[in-house]
Amino acid sequence: MQELDGKVAVVTGAGSGIGEGIARAAADAGMRVVVADIDLDSAQAVAASIGDDAMACRVDVSDLASVEALRDAALERFGAVHLLCNNAGVWVGALMVEADIRDWQFLINVNLYGVIHGVTAFGPLLAAQGEGHIVNTASMGGLISGPPEGLYTTTKFAVVGLSESLLMEMADKGVGVSVLCPGLVDTQLTTKSFEVRPQQLDPGIDHEQPAPDTASGIAPQDVGRRVIDAVREGEFYIITHDDYRDIIAMRHQGILDALDAHARRYGSTSGREV
Ligand SMILES: NC(=O)c1ccc[n+]([C@@H]2O[C@H](COP(=O)([O-])OP(=O)(O)OC[C@H]3O[C@@H](n4cnc5c(N)ncnc54)[C@H](O)[C@@H]3O)[C@@H](O)[C@H]2O)c1
Repeated sequence: MQELDGKVAVVTGAGSGIGEGIARAAADAGMRVVVADIDLDSAQAVAASIGDDAMACRVDVSDLASVEALRDAALERFGAVHLLCNNAGVWVGALMVEADIRDWQFLINVNLYGVIHGVTAFGPLLAAQGEGHIVNTASMGGLISGPPEGLYTTTKFAVVGLSESLLMEMADKGVGVSVLCPGLVDTQLTTKSFEVRPQQLDPGIDHEQPAPDTASGIAPQDVGRRVIDAVREGEFYIITHDDYRDIIAMRHQGILDALDAHARRYGSTSGREV
């Protein structure tokens, strides 16, 4: 979607961090912006600082009705939606064998269902209008994995897979799709995740796992600009760091090696599905 001036962006998790960076970059590109977050105060502060072309909206992305209400509020105020950024997310560090089922539920509800709800509520609208773009925030943890990120990477790998399929589904509908896979970004992710966690999904356990050192990360504004560039250029993978190249290559080489080993042991087989 090359022409963004005057179009409408909805960004979830935009009260802070990467979402705020995307909202500001969208506004800089001339877009009208819906700054959506579960923390209405922070959404209002960001929207106020952007100006009259921004509106704040409270949304809980883990709740489909709340995301549908966000869509309706955006349509009522601006008449259309062109760019949807399913960005809200949370983090929990825990070894999978030590995690409480509520740790899983909290992460899946926000990081995965949040994206699913965005696609469900806004996807038909964008497809019907024949123009638009969806950006789903995954993570470098959606391409590579390792403890103590097992729960988090489970949700982010799912977001990458969902986005790859969505790209193909939307290809003939005039709707672009991107998946954002940042490395470390200097945001409030690790602290905010505790603040927004619903009490019924908080087992009250300190898993004593090291949190990612987000303070050493790049600025969220840089990520926001990168996202808007990718929307304009129609790029699918949005990468913010080059320093994971070797690990990604190693992971993919492992898959290719397994294909070779299969062919050597069992002979070549045809058919895409197994
Ligand atoms: N910071 C990093 O290093 C990093 C790296 C890779 C991916 N990410 C991803 O980037 C996205 C944004 O995170 P961030 O780093 O900017 O953190 P952040 O905490 O600064 O921003 C996330 C925002 O999402 C909001 N939020 C949380 N739960 C919500 C819900 N249920 N409904 C609506 N809003 C909700 C929070 O209130 C917060 O304002 C997340 O999906 C995260 O997983 C972050």
